Amino acid sequence: MFNASLIVDRDFNLAPLDRRLFGVFVEHLGRCVYNGIHEPGHPTADEQGFRGDVAELTKELGATIVRYPGGNFMSGYNWEDGVGPKDQRPRRLDLAWFSTETNQVGTHEFMAWCRKVGIEPMFGVNLGTRGPDEARHYLEYCNHPGGTALSDLRRSHGAEEPLGIKFWCLGNEMDGPWQICQKTPDEYGRIAKETAKLMRWVDPSIELAACGSSAYDMPTYGIWEDRVLEHCFEFVDYLSLHSYFVKPPLDTSTESFFAQIETNARYIEDTVAIADSVATRKRSTKRLKLSFDEWNVWYRARHGEHLRQAGWPEAPRLLEEVYTAEDALLIGGMLTMFMNHADRLKVACMAQLCNVIAPIMTEPGGPAWRQTIFHPFAQAARWAHGQVLRPVIRSPGFANPRHGELPYLCASVVDDAATGQTAVFLLNRSLTDEMDLSITLRGLGLERRLVQAEQLHCADLNATNTVDAPDRVTPQVLDGIAIAGEQLRVKLKPASWNVIVTQAVRT
Ligand code: AHR
Repeated sequence: MFNASLIVDRDFNLAPLDRRLFGVFVEHLGRCVYNGIHEPGHPTADEQGFRGDVAELTKELGATIVRYPGGNFMSGYNWEDGVGPKDQRPRRLDLAWFSTETNQVGTHEFMAWCRKVGIEPMFGVNLGTRGPDEARHYLEYCNHPGGTALSDLRRSHGAEEPLGIKFWCLGNEMDGPWQICQKTPDEYGRIAKETAKLMRWVDPSIELAACGSSAYDMPTYGIWEDRVLEHCFEFVDYLSLHSYFVKPPLDTSTESFFAQIETNARYIEDTVAIADSVATRKRSTKRLKLSFDEWNVWYRARHGEHLRQAGWPEAPRLLEEVYTAEDALLIGGMLTMFMNHADRLKVACMAQLCNVIAPIMTEPGGPAWRQTIFHPFAQAARWAHGQVLRPVIRSPGFANPRHGELPYLCASVVDDAATGQTAVFLLNRSLTDEMDLSITLRGLGLERRLVQAEQLHCADLNATNTVDAPDRVTPQVLDGIAIAGEQLRVKLKPASWNVIVTQAVRT
């Protein structure tokens, strides 16, 4: 057992939490769309073929925004293939995932699914094989009210009203050699600028994200951001970050795995620094926002037949990572870190939603279930509302070769003045010791009552949720919280993620 403390003060306000931090990602990849969210003939499917059980789990997950249709898929996609009568839509080779794309789900079907689950769409345009012309046409098709060939084409497809898609990604991972039509930073920066310009002329109300590097450890990280922003800084609102957490090849310890929270914090802070240095060079007061629009654990189903299968199959089983309790703890810690960067980080999309590196798994014709990583995401999405407060943490810790001494405690605190509720998110990274934690919520109410307290802890860090045992790793009630005025006292199990929500009853 060791002691730790967490103090927040109402006046030490970091930023309002943007609820779009709880976004997800749906790509035409493997069984994410087909035989994932969409499975005509499934007992729970609606008239459009979308699975009702997956829709219900998506709502329970609490996702607020969804990126679509890729990913790498985006860089070879013709949006025109996915609109109009389904029986006339072409089947195409998808060069991103070496699969056959049937185009039975396209813009309108996906928008109907977004409405069904109550989630905001984030669409992307193809800046791989295509460019500004198709991008502005796609936007006109989607968002222009009517009276032009493309907007009237949409209306003839049954959507009288504009689709009102506000958030658009300017391509995907254009720095990556695996990308269909990879670009140099100057090539991409120029095309991103011109595409952004045209798209804003079509619909000035949209928000635009430019591609940052596809990973922090890309050899061109930093140079890419600087050159791209040199071209398009004034024309975009967000710069994207992508990160997939792996177990380091030389040191597979859980502690090193958990230290990726700090690595990704550095990634965010370095990217902010680069964006701000471009602003300085341009004598601009603009502060670019960040969109972490792909993130998750992904290191097992990442090679060989997990990436590519012979014969151009339809909806093959690709990237079907099975998550452990250890992964869920890292996801929880990552969410605390995201909240603690809420001043610049406004959007984040867990990649992906269903079957493909996903919190939700399905069997064709069978059940849908929650992977371990579902739980911390759902808890954070449910309880994090309001203002993020700056946490002051005192905790013993562990030595990490990259970051030095790191505290066992990772924490974030979000306070909702409207309801008087304060949510505290806590990860105990000690693998062996219980944490005796004192929490001070200064200035947030003289008397508090407990609303909810849950912990995610599993003695076996390798435990998984499977079709036969879907609830092996699931949150439990966190008992033993003592509340005295502004002070909370609780014992956190080793290797546990915890959520404590209290409400002010006397201010
Ligand atoms: O999410 C899987 C893939 O990872 C995406 O298509 C791509 O953008 C990233 O490399």
